Amino acid sequence: MTLQTSNNNELKVSDTVAHSGETQTPLSDAQASLNKLHSFISLKNTSRPLLCPNPIDLGNGLVLRRAEPGDRDELAAFNAHIHFPSGGRGTFDYFSPSNFEGAEHPTTDHTNFTVVVDTAKNNKIVSSVWSVPQIWYYGNPDTLATESNALETGVPIVVVRPEGVGTDEEYRGHGLIKKHMDVHHEWARALGSPLQFIGGMPQYYCRFGYECAPERIAGVGGTLASLEPLIKKKDPRFQVRQATLDDVDFIMTTVRVNSSRRDGIWTDVDQFGWTSIMKGPYHHYVVEFVSDSPESSKEPVRIGFVEFKSYSGNIQRLELADTDVASWEDFTSAVLAFVPQFHKEVMAGVKKQIQAPYTAPRKMKNSNTLPNDWQFFLSLGARHPAYKSVAATCLPLKRDPYYWFTRIESVQHLLNTYTFSITKSDYNAGGAPLIRLREARFGSVIEKGGQFVTFQGNTATRIRYGHPKCVDVLDVLFPRMAND
Ligand SMILES: CC(C)(COP(=O)(O)OP(=O)(O)OC[C@H]1O[C@@H](n2cnc3c(N)ncnc32)[C@H](O)[C@@H]1OP(=O)(O)O)[C@@H](O)C(=O)NCCC(=O)NCCS
Repeated sequence: MTLQTSNNNELKVSDTVAHSGETQTPLSDAQASLNKLHSFISLKNTSRPLLCPNPIDLGNGLVLRRAEPGDRDELAAFNAHIHFPSGGRGTFDYFSPSNFEGAEHPTTDHTNFTVVVDTAKNNKIVSSVWSVPQIWYYGNPDTLATESNALETGVPIVVVRPEGVGTDEEYRGHGLIKKHMDVHHEWARALGSPLQFIGGMPQYYCRFGYECAPERIAGVGGTLASLEPLIKKKDPRFQVRQATLDDVDFIMTTVRVNSSRRDGIWTDVDQFGWTSIMKGPYHHYVVEFVSDSPESSKEPVRIGFVEFKSYSGNIQRLELADTDVASWEDFTSAVLAFVPQFHKEVMAGVKKQIQAPYTAPRKMKNSNTLPNDWQFFLSLGARHPAYKSVAATCLPLKRDPYYWFTRIESVQHLLNTYTFSITKSDYNAGGAPLIRLREARFGSVIEKGGQFVTFQGNTATRIRYGHPKCVDVLDVLFPRMAND
């Protein structure tokens, strides 16, 4: 079975999708399949299909084209104006072969942007959209993920995520975004991406075929007062240090194993991706355990990893490694006790710069203070083991979920390409529903043993009453369409 792409690049699904279930794929095959997908969408793939291969005349002097290196300063200033200063700095970075932090994004540079220019106004940029290709993993809880089999427990899918949607005030209301979207969706097809996700304004993206689907950004949070008990009883055996490139393998494996155990869907990052992310604007720390027993080794043992969001300083990844020297409680307590210090030493300066008007990118400086109303969030989704590992009074703030909007260009094509079965797993620590995909015909999967649901016959009713959590997953894959 193949995914036929628009410019005749055939992506053979059997080459790219990890199989699971009765015919277990050896790890090396799963790894090879995944590597192949990462390489295909990588900027380093010289035969990666081009976004908007040729300029498109939109009439009235307007031309839609792919961004060019010479657009850097104007497009960065445009995005700083339309979105926010950090949007401008982010745009600027994508135009540099290696940005101001020395990072190189694995899949995105200026060629991922489209712009509309007005030829009557000296080719002024009046509208822009860009897209990030990623690999999203759909998890399978049937196997308890371990370091050696984590990649066999799900199916990787190429996902294209449009971002940075904006039009100059004077040019709005003329359907320019539709023109961009058509081109970005065409590119998604060329990359073999059956799903597109966008995070943004409710109501707007449905006009381009997007429907509200997976949750994002939900979380819990705290204040200095709520964290005080954890700071006071901080255990000196758990130390938080900045991550280095030597930690890449540890971080990649820890994230993969935990994500496959817990999440229905996650974004997979390979070694090159992590190396790039670690050099970029996010802030990465590793928590280590150093024994205080005279008989034990004083060699630090890495127990987990934390990623703070670049501009807010909220925590967006928090993962405990498989270790017998620390529990979720030890790990989360150590991280939470560190958060105010991190905000003082790093984020206070970052936030100052974010609020400043956009000029040109420069290194962020410190101011070493926290405002009286300081608060922070663990943006780890609606459910996460960390939330239950400290007293609820430490994390009294709640952030409601927001949503990804999902576009499935052809549900029929998706169903013919993958088989879906939905499972509620004992291994799912967060209690979230998990989904399993296999290359096969829709509706043909029957698993032996365990709880399972397929979409055959009258199973919609069964899902609703027998497996209510699965309804969430159905919403992800088969969101309500505009004409439902
Ligand atoms: C939203 C935006 C990109 C639309 O650009 P545009 O070139 O005017 O896009 P289109 O012409 O395709 O769409 C305009 C339509 O979207 C509607 N629209 C604009 N903002 C909207 C919103 N927040 N929610 C729902 N609809 C919205 C307009 O009312 C108009 O409707 P109409 O076609 O029925 O008259 C533009 O208003 C903009 O740049 N806004 C600021 C940046 C922003 O918010 N970007 C999106 C971040 S998720």
